[in-house]
Amino acid sequence: MSEIVVNLYKQANPITGTVVENKRLTSERHGLDQDVRHIVIRYKDAYPYIPGQSAGIIPPGIDPRTNKPYILRLYSIASTRSGDDGKGDSVSLCVVRHFFDNPKTGEKHVPGAASNYLCDLKPGDQVKMMGPAGKHFVLPDDFKARDIIFAATGTGIAPYRGMLKEMFDASFSGRVWLYFGIPYKDAILYDDEFKALANQHKNLFYVTAVSREDMNPIPDVVPTRSNKMYVQVRMYQDKEILKDAFTKRNALLYLCGLKGMEEGIFPVLDMIGKEMKLEKPLSQVLKEEKRLLVEVY
Ligand code: A2P
Repeated sequence: MSEIVVNLYKQANPITGTVVENKRLTSERHGLDQDVRHIVIRYKDAYPYIPGQSAGIIPPGIDPRTNKPYILRLYSIASTRSGDDGKGDSVSLCVVRHFFDNPKTGEKHVPGAASNYLCDLKPGDQVKMMGPAGKHFVLPDDFKARDIIFAATGTGIAPYRGMLKEMFDASFSGRVWLYFGIPYKDAILYDDEFKALANQHKNLFYVTAVSREDMNPIPDVVPTRSNKMYVQVRMYQDKEILKDAFTKRNALLYLCGLKGMEEGIFPVLDMIGKEMKLEKPLSQVLKEEKRLLVEVY
């Protein structure tokens, strides 16, 4: 694995960037609850990241719950290492506005400090960043001829945006699947970009699972909450081609997004593995062979 830089900037010595773009990626009709933003931050000093890493952000001010400064939050990077404009001096983040219920006070729909701070930033605003963080959820150096399966829920799509662009820029010759779970059709993040990429590259298979508009047609085989369409259903529907991919002993599976998505996907993998007549569950084989990469939160 080539050298990956981590934590060049820490809380005591953050880098200051300037927001150059903050664009809503989802339809306005969903209001603040599906407010997902593509935020581009430009910096003057070096910030050497690669797709799959995260940027640390600290909202300014004091956390009223602790009476101490806010602590760092990590956000997945959504750009290639050279940034959306290719100039190598910016990083793009994909951020969803977060709300939570506070069981202690009974307050409902409390705005999350960091995500609301980021989503409200305007071009020209300055942001303190730490990181880059993480070095495990990245592409291997020898990705070029492998079969790779990416599965995402929600903003878990972010790392794949940068990875896919870098893969095709490097003449990727394997096959890659992108399974993307999202609640509504008009909330599919970066949909146009992925469609364009899939049109251009016949070895990219882009598959969406729209949970609140499409039903799961096979709930007896792949059960899902309220029979919703989830990524694992789409993966099962593609089981013949995925069997072929997993027959290659170097195929990789990446999962990114909601904690709990593994629990729905592993049984589907294991069904696929059984049809492949594997001696062990496929999820176990992938884990043991370090071909399963998971980033959930
Ligand atoms: P839903 O929320 O309809 O149950 P977001 O983070 O924007 O809410 O999107 C996450 C997507 O992943 C939604 O479509 C959500 O469906 C879906 N989802 C929720 N739980 C799981 C799970 N355990 N496995 C797969 N997909 C899930």
